[in-house]
Amino acid sequence: MGIARVGVVGCGLMGSGIAQTAAQVGFEVTVREINEDLLQRGLDSIRRNLQRQVEKGSLSQEQLEQVWNRLRGTTRLDDLTGSDLIIEAITEQLAAKKELFTALHRICPPETIFASNTSSLSITEMAVASGRPERFVGLHFFNPVPVMKLVEVVRTLLTDAGVYEEAVDFARRLGKTPVRTGDRTGFIVNRLLVPYLLDAIRALEEGVASIEDIDHSMRLGCGYPMGPFTLLDFVGLDTTYYIAQVMFEEFREKRFAPPPLLKRMVLAGWHGRKTGRGFYDYSDPKNPRPSPLNF
Ligand code: CAA
Repeated sequence: MGIARVGVVGCGLMGSGIAQTAAQVGFEVTVREINEDLLQRGLDSIRRNLQRQVEKGSLSQEQLEQVWNRLRGTTRLDDLTGSDLIIEAITEQLAAKKELFTALHRICPPETIFASNTSSLSITEMAVASGRPERFVGLHFFNPVPVMKLVEVVRTLLTDAGVYEEAVDFARRLGKTPVRTGDRTGFIVNRLLVPYLLDAIRALEEGVASIEDIDHSMRLGCGYPMGPFTLLDFVGLDTTYYIAQVMFEEFREKRFAPPPLLKRMVLAGWHGRKTGRGFYDYSDPKNPRPSPLNF
């Protein structure tokens, strides 16, 4: 029958982007948050994104209303039971994710496909905990989800081949380019991106150049849309630190080891754009200044 109704668990940065993208290409979407306040915040950010598209002329007001009508917000897990595919985008904590999938398994029909948007946790471990490992995949999206064209589609030893193809096809129907990969921490993108970001921090620690000059170098010398420090602040230093730790734990290779400066900045509460300070200071959001780092 194929996937027509999509459930999304979590309406934060990633969940709201996934819900918006799915509704925009015609899926019926139910997105669940744990409380009304978080749900409202997520739905407001989707509405703002759609409204911006109307202002730019890439979406009509009528299309906006159609997308909006395909989106339903809820705080009840039970409201997801009619979904053909449920994508989890909650906090990166394995215990919380396993608990969620165990609960979903109890209330969903056996054919519902489960997916996790995790960037670093084990898909296999979640798949086994879900009780339906053959109908479990990873669907890893990139921030900002409505803009970034890639989805890593992750299979485990236990994923059914037909289910995997449905997931690949789903990513295509979202207008994304799916890439196929197995359940190895970091998949493809973070396997390459994380060591690069950590190396930029090491270069800064060693006094190779300033924050701005390292950013300029990669933007203007290599055509990257953001330099490594702008990207670190965008992804979040806490998130990067966490992913690096999980990858180091898995591979025990120095290139994944978080540098001391990253750890100190996370401990200091400098988590990047979302906290107003990271490698740059965002007190004036339109004009970020490099943070003075006296380490
Ligand atoms: N949500 C929705 N749309 C957004 C957006 C957001 N948060 N931010 C920007 N956009 C849209 C803009 O509205 C604009 O749309 P139009 O082309 O229709 O006008 C388009 O994106 C381009 O935006 P801007 O012109 O404002 O700015 P830009 O050209 O500098 O692009 C960017 C912004 C797309 C974020 C670009 O800088 C970029 O690609 N940066 C790199 C992002 C990246 O590497 N993401 C992956 C992070 S790693 C990850 O997510 C996975 C992980 O596991 C850690």
